[in-house]
Amino acid sequence: ATPPAFSVPLSVPPTLRPSKVTADTDYYEITIGKSHANIVPGARTEVLTYQGSYPGPTIRARSGRKVVIKQRNHLDEPASVHLHGGSVEQASDGSPMTPIKSGGSQIYTYPNLQPHANLWMHDHTHHLESEHLYRGLANLYLLTDRIEQSLPLPSGRYDVPLMLSDVRLDSKGQLVYEMDDAFNRTTLLVNGRPRPYFKVDARKYRFRLVNTSNLRMFWLSLSDGTPLTVIGADGGLLPAPYETERLLISPGERADLIIDFSKYAPGTQLILKNDLPPGDPSLIGEVIRFDVGRKVRDTSSVPATLRTLPAVPEADTTRQMVMYMDEVGAGTNAFLNGKAFDAGRIDIDIKHGSTEEWILTNTSQTIPHNFHTHLVQFRVTGRNGGPATGFETGLKDTVLLWPGEYVTLRATFDTYRGVFPYHCHMVDHSAMGMMAQMRIA
Ligand code: C2O
Ligand code: CU
Repeated sequence: ATPPAFSVPLSVPPTLRPSKVTADTDYYEITIGKSHANIVPGARTEVLTYQGSYPGPTIRARSGRKVVIKQRNHLDEPASVHLHGGSVEQASDGSPMTPIKSGGSQIYTYPNLQPHANLWMHDHTHHLESEHLYRGLANLYLLTDRIEQSLPLPSGRYDVPLMLSDVRLDSKGQLVYEMDDAFNRTTLLVNGRPRPYFKVDARKYRFRLVNTSNLRMFWLSLSDGTPLTVIGADGGLLPAPYETERLLISPGERADLIIDFSKYAPGTQLILKNDLPPGDPSLIGEVIRFDVGRKVRDTSSVPATLRTLPAVPEADTTRQMVMYMDEVGAGTNAFLNGKAFDAGRIDIDIKHGSTEEWILTNTSQTIPHNFHTHLVQFRVTGRNGGPATGFETGLKDTVLLWPGEYVTLRATFDTYRGVFPYHCHMVDHSAMGMMAQMRIA
């Protein structure tokens, strides 16, 4: 039961207000619970929410100011909250093995000592992460800093989060969850709304895209062929903007886009299309429609230089990471370096302060994977023997590997010591075992 395209307006998740603000810290309280969302007109769909919002409310943070969140778990089962892309201590990492028990609460501390980045939060409870994320436990955490604030980019109501996901709905408009069910999740959602329309002024907008789906890639383009201007990746702004006709974004990845609607006449309808299966193209081929309105004053601009990134560090150690999953459907096993996840096992030991080079290979014949590591932002130093291109030249924490591909990355582990996971971010795969642990000491 997929609702018709462009029949509902886009909604923008609310920005969460701190419950207390001190000189150096913002305090928040969030309840993880069950609620209802209006996905299909006329139906009340049961969902999971952070603080009652589907998807979860946006948190806006600033480098140098701490955020402390008290999470209360009102579900009948454990929940664990992970700040994806954040540099945080192990105790606040929301690791799969240290969830908040049903009825309990936990305090998560985010020091925000890293530069600006488009982070997001999602459930990470071992074996439940996939279903919890699917049912709605995700929100944006936009971390800004002085460098980003100094740029004249579109802001305020012209800076719009777009959380892309997909679900399968039954005839009553309820979510159907089955592990590894990529082919049937053909209702595309933007901020929890099915293929919405969005009324825009004829001027520039900044869109913060995050792919929160469990398994779906989005290959995005504008219906009139106008290139998208990409200004940022997972770990914040790129050194310079670039234009691309199609932008590929895999689960967990973020892209920061500028679309300038000023060249369109009022009344123009522009569609953000998706060119990648699985699913009937009449269902999954269109993501959102922009309905262009009147021309308004626009003092924003996109500078030719956005930021300076540090030089890619030299590596102290090189490791191989092989991603593989059996090809025979759901309930199969998924492996990192030949092993399925075992919470009692440390897979690699990393010397604090060192730079690691990881050579990732996807040896699956037909199944894509994407690699995410906690704690650090990394640099992609190569893809299939060539250089990184596009938004992979920026700071990344998640990277896509099509079947047979190999990708090289480098990361420096000079922040927190402790045990942290790394895994495939096609979350059904990590739930099936494609996850491992590193210890930084
Ligand atoms: Cu967004 Cu360990 O994940
Ligand atoms: Cu995978």
